[in-house]
Amino acid sequence: MIRIAPMSPVSAEKATAWHAVLVASLADDLPDEPRPTPEQVHAQLTAEGLDSRRLFWLATDTGGAVVGVAGLRLFTSPGQDHLAELELHVHPDRRRSGVGSQLLAVAVLAAKGERRRSLITAAVDGGPGDAFCAARGFRRVLTLDHLLLDVARADDAQADIEHPGYELAGWTGTVPDELADAFAAAKNAMNDMPTGDMDYGSQTWTADRVRAMAQVLADRGDLLLTTAALGKGEMAGYAEIVIRAGETRRALQYDTAVVPAHRGHGIGLWIKAAMVRRLRAEHPGISEIETDNTQDNTHMLAVNQRLGFRSHRRTHENQLDLPTT
Ligand SMILES: CC(C)(COP(=O)(O)OP(=O)(O)OC[C@H]1O[C@@H](n2cnc3c(N)ncnc32)[C@H](O)[C@@H]1OP(=O)(O)O)[C@@H](O)C(=O)NCCC(=O)NCCS
Repeated sequence: MIRIAPMSPVSAEKATAWHAVLVASLADDLPDEPRPTPEQVHAQLTAEGLDSRRLFWLATDTGGAVVGVAGLRLFTSPGQDHLAELELHVHPDRRRSGVGSQLLAVAVLAAKGERRRSLITAAVDGGPGDAFCAARGFRRVLTLDHLLLDVARADDAQADIEHPGYELAGWTGTVPDELADAFAAAKNAMNDMPTGDMDYGSQTWTADRVRAMAQVLADRGDLLLTTAALGKGEMAGYAEIVIRAGETRRALQYDTAVVPAHRGHGIGLWIKAAMVRRLRAEHPGISEIETDNTQDNTHMLAVNQRLGFRSHRRTHENQLDLPTT
């Protein structure tokens, strides 16, 4: 017998139980990946998201042991309020006995109750999540290649190339006020990023929203580094790197975008090379950067390969279409 209960409020004890299941699950599926710390997990479970609400459930056996966890992110901004995102993990020792299906059923019910038409979830290529999604009616809508850069061996020489009419800017955390509107405009350029068949919707960025995004990361204790190219009175492009709280090894690439009018001039490579150089100088302990690329984003892939990023692993976004009646 398995009992599924909402995790509300998120106590320290429940967050610890969640972390234990998550770490055991990741160790099984991705043995070489860095594991989230208890502090990172606690912060993610308790801190406010940007334009989203989250619901959590724990699956417990008759002895009171937590054997599975599920989280549902409900997007709330007007372009994305049709969408919910699922995170689901079952302890490796307790798989193939229906726990995942029970957690999924509860999450689907909640998503329907919130009038969501699409539920998305990520699964490792060839892993159990992949097979589970196929068995439970999800379809693959997007494939992401995850790449890793060994910072010590990265080629950042492109940071020295002159780009007449453009200059580099960089900041940590919240964007400086004088760049906030230009940054929001550049972020809106990300709306043309490839999302495959995913029912992802669109996000509209404003100066207030970019500040809110930085605040969400700060509240989690994460560090946000941004490098941007300014030119012709606007922000031509930018790259964001996040170092999660307590992280000692890996930085995560968030957005990289070049505004359409400025594409084709090596601005993307320039910004990313400058970011690598900055990371080396400011955070010498960080030894690798992870990024992901859709397979059809050939320009971004070329930039990443030029810097020295190498293929690491592959995940799929899976989508379940929910009846809306
Ligand atoms: C995916 C996951 C949540 C499944 O949990 P689970 O409790 O084992 O799932 P269930 O027992 O309810 O499995 C339901 C069906 O999915 C399919 N399935 C699940 N795991 C499978 C596997 N390893 N190989 C093949 N089919 C599998 C089967 O059809 C299974 O039915 P069956 O056991 O009667 O054959 C679990 O493997 C896990 O935590 N994986 C890592 C996290 C992850 O990938 N999450 C994202 C996916 S939502």
